[in-house]
Amino acid sequence: MEKNKNTKSFIDLAKRRGFFWQSSEIYGGTSGMFDYGPLGLLLKTKLINKWRNFFVKQEDNIFEIETSIIQPEKVFEASGHLDSFIDPITQCKKCNSIFRADNLIEEKTKEFVEGKKPEELTKIIKENNIKCPKCKSELSKVKIFNLMVKTFLSPTEDEIAYLRPETAQGIFIDFKRILVATRVKLPFGVAQIGPSFRNEISPRQFLIRLRAFSQMEIEWFVVPEEIKIHPRFREVEKVKIRILTRKAQEENGNETILTASEALRKRIVPNQNLAYFLARETQFYQSIGLPFEAFRFRHMLPEETPHYSKGNFDLEIKFDFGWKEVVGNAYRTDHDLKKHMEKSGVDLSVRLDDGAKVIPHVVEPSFGIERTIYGILFHCYRDDKERGWEWFAFPPSIAPYSVGVFPLVNKNGLQEKAKEVLKLLKKHFDVFYDDSGSIGRRYARADEVGTPFGITIDYDTIKNNTVTLRYRDTTKQDRVKIEDLVKIIYMKVHS
Ligand code: GAP
Repeated sequence: MEKNKNTKSFIDLAKRRGFFWQSSEIYGGTSGMFDYGPLGLLLKTKLINKWRNFFVKQEDNIFEIETSIIQPEKVFEASGHLDSFIDPITQCKKCNSIFRADNLIEEKTKEFVEGKKPEELTKIIKENNIKCPKCKSELSKVKIFNLMVKTFLSPTEDEIAYLRPETAQGIFIDFKRILVATRVKLPFGVAQIGPSFRNEISPRQFLIRLRAFSQMEIEWFVVPEEIKIHPRFREVEKVKIRILTRKAQEENGNETILTASEALRKRIVPNQNLAYFLARETQFYQSIGLPFEAFRFRHMLPEETPHYSKGNFDLEIKFDFGWKEVVGNAYRTDHDLKKHMEKSGVDLSVRLDDGAKVIPHVVEPSFGIERTIYGILFHCYRDDKERGWEWFAFPPSIAPYSVGVFPLVNKNGLQEKAKEVLKLLKKHFDVFYDDSGSIGRRYARADEVGTPFGITIDYDTIKNNTVTLRYRDTTKQDRVKIEDLVKIIYMKVHS
Protein backbone atom coordinates (compact mmCIF):
# COMPACT_ATOMS: atom_id res chain seq x y z
CA MET A 1 0.00 0.00 0.00
CA GLU A 2 1.18 3.55 -0.68
CA LYS A 3 2.82 5.33 2.19
CA ASN A 4 0.94 8.60 1.74
CA LYS A 5 -2.31 7.23 3.11
CA ASN A 6 -3.23 9.53 5.90
CA THR A 7 -6.66 9.03 7.35
CA LYS A 8 -6.84 12.44 8.99
CA SER A 9 -6.01 14.21 5.72
CA PHE A 10 -8.60 12.46 3.60
CA ILE A 11 -11.29 12.87 6.25
CA ASP A 12 -10.40 16.54 6.63
CA LEU A 13 -10.56 17.00 2.87
CA ALA A 14 -13.89 15.16 2.61
CA LYS A 15 -15.37 17.21 5.46
CA ARG A 16 -14.00 20.53 4.18
CA ARG A 17 -15.46 19.93 0.72
CA GLY A 18 -18.85 18.88 2.09
CA PHE A 19 -18.97 15.14 1.46
CA PHE A 20 -20.41 14.57 4.96
CA TRP A 21 -20.49 15.80 8.50
CA GLN A 22 -21.78 14.63 11.82
CA SER A 23 -25.54 14.58 12.18
CA SER A 24 -27.23 17.23 14.39
CA GLU A 25 -23.91 19.07 14.57
CA ILE A 26 -25.40 22.37 15.77
CA TYR A 27 -26.70 20.52 18.86
CA GLY A 28 -23.37 18.93 19.60
CA GLY A 29 -23.61 16.04 17.13
CA THR A 30 -24.90 12.47 17.51
CA SER A 31 -22.37 9.65 17.73
CA GLY A 32 -22.60 7.08 14.99
CA MET A 33 -24.70 9.25 12.66
CA PHE A 34 -23.58 11.22 9.64
CA ASP A 35 -25.33 13.45 7.12
CA TYR A 36 -24.32 13.43 3.47
CA GLY A 37 -23.58 16.82 1.91
CA PRO A 38 -23.95 17.55 -1.82
CA LEU A 39 -20.76 15.79 -2.95
CA GLY A 40 -21.16 12.84 -0.58
CA LEU A 41 -24.70 12.25 -1.79
CA LEU A 42 -23.59 12.35 -5.43
CA LEU A 43 -20.88 9.78 -4.64
CA LYS A 44 -23.33 7.56 -2.73
CA THR A 45 -25.97 7.77 -5.47
CA LYS A 46 -23.43 6.86 -8.14
CA LEU A 47 -22.13 3.96 -6.08
CA ILE A 48 -25.68 2.66 -5.64
CA ASN A 49 -26.47 3.06 -9.36
CA LYS A 50 -23.30 1.25 -10.31
CA TRP A 51 -24.04 -1.55 -7.85
CA ARG A 52 -27.62 -1.82 -9.13
CA ASN A 53 -26.41 -1.97 -12.71
CA PHE A 54 -23.75 -4.58 -11.86
CA PHE A 55 -25.61 -6.84 -9.41
CA VAL A 56 -29.25 -6.43 -10.47
CA LYS A 57 -29.60 -5.26 -14.08
CA GLN A 58 -26.80 -7.38 -15.52
CA GLU A 59 -28.17 -10.51 -13.82
CA ASP A 60 -30.90 -12.69 -15.26
CA ASN A 61 -33.22 -13.09 -12.34
CA ILE A 62 -32.55 -10.61 -9.59
CA PHE A 63 -35.42 -8.31 -8.60
CA GLU A 64 -35.13 -5.22 -6.45
CA ILE A 65 -37.73 -4.40 -3.82
CA GLU A 66 -38.16 -1.87 -1.04
CA THR A 67 -39.70 -2.91 2.26
CA SER A 68 -40.66 -1.06 5.42
CA ILE A 69 -37.86 0.25 7.61
CA ILE A 70 -39.92 -0.37 10.75
CA GLN A 71 -41.02 -3.93 11.36
CA PRO A 72 -43.07 -5.53 14.14
CA GLU A 73 -41.46 -7.52 16.95
CA LYS A 74 -42.68 -10.84 15.53
CA VAL A 75 -40.32 -10.49 12.55
CA PHE A 76 -37.32 -10.31 14.86
CA GLU A 77 -38.58 -13.02 17.18
CA ALA A 78 -38.59 -15.29 14.14
CA SER A 79 -35.29 -14.11 12.69
CA GLY A 80 -33.53 -14.57 16.01
CA HIS A 81 -32.50 -10.91 16.35
CA LEU A 82 -34.45 -10.49 19.57
CA ASP A 83 -32.44 -13.21 21.31
CA SER A 84 -29.16 -13.19 19.46
CA PHE A 85 -28.48 -9.71 18.09
CA ILE A 86 -26.65 -8.77 21.23
CA ASP A 87 -23.37 -7.37 22.45
CA PRO A 88 -21.73 -7.94 25.80
CA ILE A 89 -21.30 -4.67 27.69
CA THR A 90 -19.51 -3.57 30.84
CA GLN A 91 -19.83 -0.26 32.68
CA CYS A 92 -17.24 1.69 34.60
CA LYS A 93 -18.19 1.72 38.28
CA LYS A 94 -16.88 5.26 38.69
CA CYS A 95 -17.43 7.31 35.50
CA ASN A 96 -20.35 5.16 34.22
CA SER A 97 -18.91 4.92 30.69
CA ILE A 98 -20.15 1.86 28.81
CA PHE A 99 -17.88 -0.35 26.68
CA ARG A 100 -18.15 -3.47 24.59
CA ALA A 101 -16.56 -6.09 26.80
CA ASP A 102 -15.31 -8.20 23.88
CA ASN A 103 -13.56 -5.18 22.30
CA LEU A 104 -11.79 -4.28 25.55
CA ILE A 105 -10.61 -7.86 25.99
CA GLU A 106 -9.49 -8.24 22.39
CA GLU A 107 -7.55 -4.98 22.53
CA LYS A 108 -5.75 -6.02 25.73
CA THR A 109 -5.19 -9.77 25.19
CA LYS A 110 -5.26 -9.92 21.36
CA GLU A 111 -7.47 -12.98 21.87
CA PHE A 112 -10.68 -13.47 19.97
CA VAL A 113 -13.64 -13.90 22.38
CA GLU A 114 -16.75 -13.68 20.17
CA GLY A 115 -19.45 -16.11 21.30
CA LYS A 116 -18.27 -16.34 24.93
CA LYS A 117 -20.85 -16.07 27.73
CA PRO A 118 -21.08 -12.93 29.98
CA GLU A 119 -19.70 -14.86 32.99
CA GLU A 120 -16.69 -16.01 30.97
CA LEU A 121 -16.01 -12.44 29.79
CA THR A 122 -16.34 -11.07 33.35
CA LYS A 123 -13.74 -13.66 34.43
CA ILE A 124 -11.32 -12.72 31.60
CA ILE A 125 -11.66 -9.01 32.50
CA LYS A 126 -10.78 -9.80 36.13
CA GLU A 127 -7.92 -12.17 35.28
CA ASN A 128 -6.34 -9.65 32.91
CA ASN A 129 -6.91 -6.72 35.24
CA ILE A 130 -8.72 -4.76 32.50
CA LYS A 131 -9.85 -1.34 33.75
CA CYS A 132 -11.97 1.51 32.38
CA PRO A 133 -10.03 2.97 29.42
CA LYS A 134 -11.19 6.47 30.42
CA CYS A 135 -10.57 6.69 34.20
CA LYS A 136 -8.79 3.38 34.95
CA SER A 137 -11.45 2.36 37.53
CA GLU A 138 -13.03 -1.03 38.05
CA LEU A 139 -15.53 -2.40 35.51
CA SER A 140 -18.91 -3.98 36.26
CA LYS A 141 -20.00 -7.53 35.51
CA VAL A 142 -20.62 -8.12 31.80
CA LYS A 143 -24.27 -7.83 30.71
CA ILE A 144 -26.05 -8.45 27.42
CA PHE A 145 -27.41 -5.54 25.36
CA ASN A 146 -29.71 -5.85 22.31
CA LEU A 147 -28.52 -3.73 19.40
CA MET A 148 -31.89 -3.11 17.78
CA VAL A 149 -33.49 0.33 18.01
CA LYS A 150 -36.89 -0.14 19.64
CA THR A 151 -39.98 1.93 18.95
CA PHE A 152 -43.75 1.80 19.53
CA LEU A 153 -46.44 2.00 16.90
CA SER A 154 -49.68 2.77 18.67
CA PRO A 155 -50.65 5.80 20.81
CA THR A 156 -50.89 3.48 23.81
CA GLU A 157 -47.36 2.31 23.11
CA ASP A 158 -48.30 -1.35 23.41
CA GLU A 159 -47.28 -2.35 19.90
CA ILE A 160 -43.53 -2.89 19.95
CA ALA A 161 -41.58 -2.55 16.71
CA TYR A 162 -37.95 -2.12 15.69
CA LEU A 163 -35.99 -0.17 13.12
CA ARG A 164 -34.62 -2.94 10.94
CA PRO A 165 -31.01 -3.92 11.69
CA GLU A 166 -30.58 -5.32 8.16
CA THR A 167 -32.57 -5.04 4.93
CA ALA A 168 -32.62 -8.84 4.56
CA GLN A 169 -35.62 -9.73 6.74
CA GLY A 170 -37.95 -7.63 4.55
CA ILE A 171 -37.01 -9.88 1.65
CA PHE A 172 -37.73 -13.11 3.55
CA ILE A 173 -41.10 -11.96 4.84
CA ASP A 174 -42.14 -10.82 1.34
CA PHE A 175 -40.84 -13.99 -0.31
CA LYS A 176 -44.22 -15.50 -1.18
CA ARG A 177 -45.50 -12.24 -2.69
CA ILE A 178 -42.40 -11.87 -4.86
CA LEU A 179 -42.64 -15.45 -6.02
CA VAL A 180 -46.28 -15.09 -7.06
CA ALA A 181 -45.88 -11.62 -8.61
CA THR A 182 -42.83 -12.46 -10.74
CA ARG A 183 -43.70 -16.12 -11.55
CA VAL A 184 -39.97 -16.70 -11.41
CA LYS A 185 -38.36 -20.10 -11.07
CA LEU A 186 -35.43 -20.99 -8.84
CA PRO A 187 -32.66 -19.93 -8.80
CA PHE A 188 -33.48 -16.25 -8.42
CA GLY A 189 -32.48 -13.34 -6.26
CA VAL A 190 -34.06 -10.41 -4.47
CA ALA A 191 -32.09 -7.25 -3.78
CA GLN A 192 -32.79 -4.42 -1.41
CA ILE A 193 -30.95 -1.13 -0.90
CA GLY A 194 -31.66 1.12 2.05
CA PRO A 195 -31.05 2.21 5.61
CA SER A 196 -30.46 -0.09 8.58
CA PHE A 197 -30.03 0.79 12.23
CA ARG A 198 -27.97 -0.69 15.03
CA ASN A 199 -27.65 0.81 18.47
CA GLU A 200 -23.87 0.32 18.46
CA ILE A 201 -22.37 0.75 21.91
CA SER A 202 -19.20 2.39 20.74
CA PRO A 203 -19.62 3.94 17.29
CA ARG A 204 -16.17 4.68 15.95
CA GLN A 205 -13.79 5.22 13.05
CA PHE A 206 -15.87 7.79 11.22
CA LEU A 207 -18.03 5.84 8.72
CA ILE A 208 -17.00 2.37 9.90
CA ARG A 209 -19.22 1.69 12.90
CA LEU A 210 -22.42 3.71 12.69
CA ARG A 211 -25.82 3.59 14.34
CA ALA A 212 -27.57 4.61 11.11
CA PHE A 213 -26.08 3.26 7.88
CA SER A 214 -27.16 1.78 4.56
CA GLN A 215 -26.88 -1.65 3.05
CA MET A 216 -27.19 -3.22 -0.39
CA GLU A 217 -28.19 -6.85 0.08
CA ILE A 218 -29.10 -9.76 -2.17
CA GLU A 219 -30.82 -12.95 -1.07
CA TRP A 220 -30.09 -15.52 -3.77
CA PHE A 221 -32.55 -18.45 -3.56
CA VAL A 222 -31.53 -21.86 -4.88
CA VAL A 223 -32.95 -25.41 -4.97
CA PRO A 224 -31.06 -27.03 -2.05
CA GLU A 225 -29.86 -30.00 -4.15
CA GLU A 226 -28.55 -27.57 -6.80
CA ILE A 227 -26.50 -25.36 -4.49
CA LYS A 228 -23.25 -26.52 -6.08
CA ILE A 229 -24.27 -25.14 -9.48
CA HIS A 230 -24.64 -21.49 -10.53
CA PRO A 231 -26.07 -20.91 -14.04
CA ARG A 232 -23.48 -18.23 -14.91
CA PHE A 233 -20.44 -19.56 -13.09
CA ARG A 234 -18.62 -20.17 -16.38
CA GLU A 235 -18.44 -16.39 -16.90
CA VAL A 236 -16.37 -15.89 -13.74
CA GLU A 237 -14.49 -19.16 -13.35
CA LYS A 238 -11.16 -17.57 -14.31
CA VAL A 239 -11.56 -14.46 -12.15
CA LYS A 240 -8.78 -14.30 -9.57
CA ILE A 241 -9.82 -13.81 -5.97
CA ARG A 242 -7.72 -13.26 -2.83
CA ILE A 243 -8.71 -15.50 0.03
CA LEU A 244 -7.45 -15.73 3.59
CA THR A 245 -8.23 -19.35 4.36
CA ARG A 246 -9.02 -20.73 7.79
CA LYS A 247 -5.73 -22.66 7.69
CA ALA A 248 -3.77 -19.49 6.92
CA GLN A 249 -5.46 -17.74 9.86
CA GLU A 250 -4.58 -20.59 12.22
CA GLU A 251 -0.95 -20.49 11.03
CA ASN A 252 -0.67 -16.70 10.83
CA GLY A 253 -0.19 -17.07 7.09
CA ASN A 254 -1.00 -14.86 4.14
CA GLU A 255 -3.77 -14.71 1.56
CA THR A 256 -3.82 -17.07 -1.42
CA ILE A 257 -4.71 -15.90 -4.91
CA LEU A 258 -6.88 -18.44 -6.71
CA THR A 259 -9.26 -18.41 -9.62
CA ALA A 260 -12.89 -18.93 -8.65
CA SER A 261 -12.77 -22.48 -10.05
CA GLU A 262 -9.53 -23.32 -8.20
CA ALA A 263 -11.13 -22.10 -4.95
CA LEU A 264 -13.92 -24.61 -5.57
CA ARG A 265 -11.63 -27.45 -6.62
CA LYS A 266 -9.55 -27.02 -3.46
CA ARG A 267 -12.80 -27.00 -1.44
CA ILE A 268 -12.00 -23.61 0.06
CA VAL A 269 -15.30 -22.16 -1.17
CA PRO A 270 -18.18 -24.66 -0.72
CA ASN A 271 -20.25 -24.03 -3.86
CA GLN A 272 -20.47 -22.18 -7.19
CA ASN A 273 -23.17 -19.82 -5.91
CA LEU A 274 -20.92 -18.39 -3.22
CA ALA A 275 -17.88 -18.45 -5.52
CA TYR A 276 -19.85 -16.57 -8.19
CA PHE A 277 -20.52 -13.67 -5.82
CA LEU A 278 -16.91 -13.58 -4.55
CA ALA A 279 -15.73 -13.26 -8.15
CA ARG A 280 -18.30 -10.59 -9.03
CA GLU A 281 -17.43 -8.62 -5.89
CA THR A 282 -13.75 -8.76 -6.88
CA GLN A 283 -14.64 -7.25 -10.25
CA PHE A 284 -16.93 -4.68 -8.67
CA TYR A 285 -14.53 -3.39 -6.02
CA GLN A 286 -11.78 -2.99 -8.61
CA SER A 287 -14.18 -1.03 -10.81
CA ILE A 288 -14.87 1.46 -7.98
CA GLY A 289 -11.23 2.31 -7.39
CA LEU A 290 -9.82 -0.32 -5.06
CA PRO A 291 -6.61 -2.04 -6.11
CA PHE A 292 -6.68 -5.87 -6.09
CA GLU A 293 -4.23 -5.95 -3.14
CA ALA A 294 -6.45 -3.65 -1.06
CA PHE A 295 -9.14 -6.24 -0.32
CA ARG A 296 -9.49 -9.93 0.44
CA PHE A 297 -12.07 -12.54 1.38
CA ARG A 298 -11.58 -13.92 4.87
CA HIS A 299 -13.14 -17.31 5.52
CA MET A 300 -14.71 -16.76 8.91
CA LEU A 301 -13.52 -19.12 11.63
CA PRO A 302 -15.96 -21.76 12.96
CA GLU A 303 -16.44 -19.83 16.23
CA GLU A 304 -17.46 -16.68 14.27
CA THR A 305 -19.87 -18.50 11.98
CA PRO A 306 -23.58 -18.76 12.92
CA HIS A 307 -24.69 -22.35 13.61
CA TYR A 308 -27.01 -22.44 10.55
CA SER A 309 -24.42 -21.12 8.11
CA LYS A 310 -22.45 -23.39 5.81
CA GLY A 311 -19.77 -20.87 4.97
CA ASN A 312 -19.15 -17.17 5.57
CA PHE A 313 -16.61 -15.12 3.64
CA ASP A 314 -16.14 -11.48 4.62
CA LEU A 315 -14.83 -9.09 2.01
CA GLU A 316 -12.35 -7.03 4.04
CA ILE A 317 -10.68 -3.81 2.93
CA LYS A 318 -7.21 -2.86 4.10
CA PHE A 319 -7.10 0.42 6.03
CA ASP A 320 -4.29 2.01 8.00
CA PHE A 321 -5.89 0.65 11.20
CA GLY A 322 -6.10 -2.91 9.79
CA TRP A 323 -8.54 -5.02 7.74
CA LYS A 324 -12.25 -4.34 8.10
CA GLU A 325 -15.34 -6.23 6.91
CA VAL A 326 -17.22 -4.32 4.24
CA VAL A 327 -19.32 -7.10 2.68
CA GLY A 328 -20.58 -10.18 4.51
CA ASN A 329 -21.12 -13.23 2.29
CA ALA A 330 -23.04 -16.06 3.88
CA TYR A 331 -24.48 -19.39 2.81
CA ARG A 332 -27.50 -19.13 5.14
CA THR A 333 -29.15 -22.41 4.04
CA ASP A 334 -32.94 -22.44 4.59
CA HIS A 335 -32.66 -20.96 8.09
CA ASP A 336 -34.55 -17.67 7.58
CA LEU A 337 -37.42 -18.95 5.44
CA LYS A 338 -37.93 -21.88 7.83
CA LYS A 339 -38.04 -19.62 10.88
CA HIS A 340 -40.57 -17.29 9.26
CA MET A 341 -42.64 -20.27 8.13
CA GLU A 342 -42.76 -21.59 11.69
CA LYS A 343 -43.63 -18.24 13.24
CA SER A 344 -46.16 -16.97 10.67
CA GLY A 345 -47.72 -20.28 9.70
CA VAL A 346 -47.44 -19.24 6.03
CA ASP A 347 -46.05 -21.81 3.62
CA LEU A 348 -42.88 -20.33 2.11
CA SER A 349 -41.88 -23.43 0.17
CA VAL A 350 -41.58 -23.47 -3.61
CA ARG A 351 -43.14 -26.05 -5.91
CA LEU A 352 -40.71 -27.29 -8.55
CA ASP A 353 -41.62 -28.38 -12.09
CA ASP A 354 -41.67 -32.04 -11.02
CA GLY A 355 -44.23 -31.24 -8.29
CA ALA A 356 -41.78 -31.55 -5.39
CA LYS A 357 -41.83 -28.82 -2.74
CA VAL A 358 -38.61 -27.32 -1.39
CA ILE A 359 -37.58 -24.58 0.98
CA PRO A 360 -34.88 -22.78 -0.99
CA HIS A 361 -31.36 -22.37 0.31
CA VAL A 362 -29.96 -18.85 0.39
CA VAL A 363 -26.61 -17.29 -0.43
CA GLU A 364 -26.45 -13.71 0.81
CA PRO A 365 -23.96 -11.00 -0.13
CA SER A 366 -24.53 -8.02 2.19
CA PHE A 367 -22.72 -4.78 1.32
CA GLY A 368 -22.22 -1.83 3.67
CA ILE A 369 -22.51 1.43 1.73
CA GLU A 370 -20.68 3.71 4.21
CA ARG A 371 -17.82 1.26 4.72
CA THR A 372 -17.51 0.97 0.95
CA ILE A 373 -17.43 4.76 0.63
CA TYR A 374 -14.77 4.91 3.35
CA GLY A 375 -12.74 2.35 1.39
CA ILE A 376 -13.11 4.37 -1.83
CA LEU A 377 -12.03 7.60 -0.12
CA PHE A 378 -9.10 5.91 1.60
CA HIS A 379 -7.76 4.18 -1.50
CA CYS A 380 -8.47 7.02 -3.95
CA TYR A 381 -6.87 9.71 -1.80
CA ARG A 382 -3.64 11.16 -3.23
CA ASP A 383 -1.38 13.53 -1.33
CA ASP A 384 0.46 14.75 -4.39
CA LYS A 385 3.60 16.71 -3.51
CA GLU A 386 4.51 17.28 -7.16
CA ARG A 387 1.05 18.57 -8.06
CA GLY A 388 0.97 20.69 -4.92
CA TRP A 389 -2.48 19.68 -3.70
CA GLU A 390 -4.46 16.69 -2.43
CA TRP A 391 -7.00 15.01 -4.69
CA PHE A 392 -9.25 11.98 -5.08
CA ALA A 393 -8.64 9.59 -7.98
CA PHE A 394 -12.27 8.40 -8.16
CA PRO A 395 -13.08 6.31 -11.25
CA PRO A 396 -15.13 8.53 -13.62
CA SER A 397 -18.20 6.29 -13.16
CA ILE A 398 -18.56 7.22 -9.47
CA ALA A 399 -16.92 10.66 -9.26
CA PRO A 400 -19.44 13.13 -7.73
CA TYR A 401 -18.95 15.58 -10.58
CA SER A 402 -17.86 14.24 -13.96
CA VAL A 403 -16.87 17.60 -15.41
CA GLY A 404 -15.86 21.14 -14.36
CA VAL A 405 -16.33 24.02 -16.82
CA PHE A 406 -13.99 27.03 -16.61
CA PRO A 407 -13.86 30.22 -18.68
CA LEU A 408 -10.17 31.22 -18.90
CA VAL A 409 -11.04 34.86 -18.09
CA ASN A 410 -14.29 36.57 -17.16
CA LYS A 411 -14.55 38.91 -20.14
CA ASN A 412 -14.86 39.18 -23.92
CA GLY A 413 -17.72 36.69 -24.15
CA LEU A 414 -15.82 33.74 -22.61
CA GLN A 415 -18.26 33.36 -19.69
CA GLU A 416 -21.26 33.28 -22.05
CA LYS A 417 -19.59 30.66 -24.21
CA ALA A 418 -18.68 28.61 -21.10
CA LYS A 419 -22.32 28.70 -19.96
CA GLU A 420 -23.40 27.36 -23.35
CA VAL A 421 -21.01 24.43 -22.95
CA LEU A 422 -22.25 23.95 -19.37
CA LYS A 423 -25.86 23.74 -20.56
CA LEU A 424 -24.95 21.20 -23.20
CA LEU A 425 -23.05 18.97 -20.76
CA LYS A 426 -25.62 19.23 -17.94
CA LYS A 427 -28.06 17.22 -20.04
CA HIS A 428 -25.74 14.21 -19.73
CA PHE A 429 -23.48 14.58 -16.69
CA ASP A 430 -23.07 16.10 -13.23
CA VAL A 431 -21.22 19.29 -14.06
CA PHE A 432 -20.12 22.36 -12.12
CA TYR A 433 -19.10 25.80 -13.27
CA ASP A 434 -16.25 27.77 -11.70
CA ASP A 435 -15.06 31.21 -12.81
CA SER A 436 -13.38 32.43 -9.66
CA GLY A 437 -9.63 32.71 -9.10
CA SER A 438 -6.74 31.63 -11.30
CA ILE A 439 -7.22 28.69 -13.64
CA GLY A 440 -4.63 26.74 -11.59
CA ARG A 441 -6.69 27.23 -8.40
CA ARG A 442 -9.79 26.10 -10.22
CA TYR A 443 -8.07 22.91 -11.43
CA ALA A 444 -6.95 22.30 -7.85
CA ARG A 445 -10.49 22.68 -6.51
CA ALA A 446 -11.81 20.32 -9.18
CA ASP A 447 -9.11 17.71 -8.44
CA GLU A 448 -9.78 17.93 -4.70
CA VAL A 449 -13.28 16.55 -5.20
CA GLY A 450 -12.09 14.00 -7.73
CA THR A 451 -13.54 15.55 -10.91
CA PRO A 452 -12.04 13.52 -13.77
CA PHE A 453 -12.48 16.09 -16.57
CA GLY A 454 -11.99 19.86 -16.78
CA ILE A 455 -13.02 22.00 -19.75
CA THR A 456 -11.46 25.40 -20.34
CA ILE A 457 -13.05 27.92 -22.66
CA ASP A 458 -10.49 30.33 -24.15
CA TYR A 459 -10.19 32.75 -27.08
CA ASP A 460 -9.77 29.91 -29.60
CA THR A 461 -13.15 28.56 -28.45
CA ILE A 462 -14.79 31.72 -29.76
CA LYS A 463 -12.90 31.38 -33.04
CA ASN A 464 -13.26 27.68 -33.82
CA ASN A 465 -15.57 26.01 -31.25
CA THR A 466 -12.84 23.95 -29.63
CA VAL A 467 -11.98 23.70 -25.92
CA THR A 468 -9.19 22.23 -23.85
CA LEU A 469 -10.11 18.99 -22.13
CA ARG A 470 -7.95 18.37 -19.05
CA TYR A 471 -7.58 14.89 -17.57
CA ARG A 472 -7.38 14.87 -13.77
CA ASP A 473 -5.16 11.76 -13.48
CA THR A 474 -2.37 12.92 -15.81
CA THR A 475 -3.09 16.70 -15.87
CA LYS A 476 -2.55 16.41 -19.67
CA GLN A 477 -4.78 18.44 -21.96
CA ASP A 478 -6.28 17.79 -25.41
CA ARG A 479 -7.84 20.26 -27.80
CA VAL A 480 -11.27 18.93 -28.79
CA LYS A 481 -14.33 20.12 -30.68
CA ILE A 482 -17.34 21.09 -28.54
CA GLU A 483 -19.51 18.79 -30.67
CA ASP A 484 -17.34 15.79 -29.67
CA LEU A 485 -17.29 16.49 -25.92
CA VAL A 486 -20.37 14.52 -24.91
CA LYS A 487 -19.25 11.41 -26.80
CA ILE A 488 -15.69 11.49 -25.41
CA ILE A 489 -16.77 12.01 -21.81
CA TYR A 490 -19.71 9.60 -22.04
CA MET A 491 -17.42 6.75 -23.12
CA LYS A 492 -15.20 7.29 -20.06
CA VAL A 493 -17.98 7.82 -17.51
CA HIS A 494 -19.86 4.71 -18.64
CA SER A 495 -16.92 2.34 -19.21
N1 GAP B 1 -27.87 -9.48 6.46
C1 GAP B 1 -26.52 -9.72 6.89
C2 GAP B 1 -25.88 -8.60 7.55
O1 GAP B 1 -26.48 -7.59 7.85
P1 GAP B 1 -23.58 -7.91 8.59
O2 GAP B 1 -22.23 -8.53 8.41
O3 GAP B 1 -24.07 -7.71 9.98
O4 GAP B 1 -24.57 -8.83 7.77
C3 GAP B 1 -23.33 -6.44 6.46
O5 GAP B 1 -23.64 -6.52 7.83
C4 GAP B 1 -22.54 -5.18 6.19
O6 GAP B 1 -23.23 -4.03 6.70
C5 GAP B 1 -21.18 -5.14 6.90
O7 GAP B 1 -20.21 -5.83 6.15
C6 GAP B 1 -20.91 -3.65 6.94
O8 GAP B 1 -20.37 -3.19 5.73
C7 GAP B 1 -22.29 -3.07 7.13
N2 GAP B 1 -22.49 -2.73 8.56
C8 GAP B 1 -22.93 -3.55 9.53
N3 GAP B 1 -22.96 -2.89 10.70
C9 GAP B 1 -22.54 -1.63 10.46
C10 GAP B 1 -22.35 -0.45 11.27
N4 GAP B 1 -22.64 -0.45 12.55
N5 GAP B 1 -21.89 0.67 10.67
C11 GAP B 1 -21.61 0.70 9.35
N6 GAP B 1 -21.77 -0.37 8.55
C12 GAP B 1 -22.23 -1.52 9.09
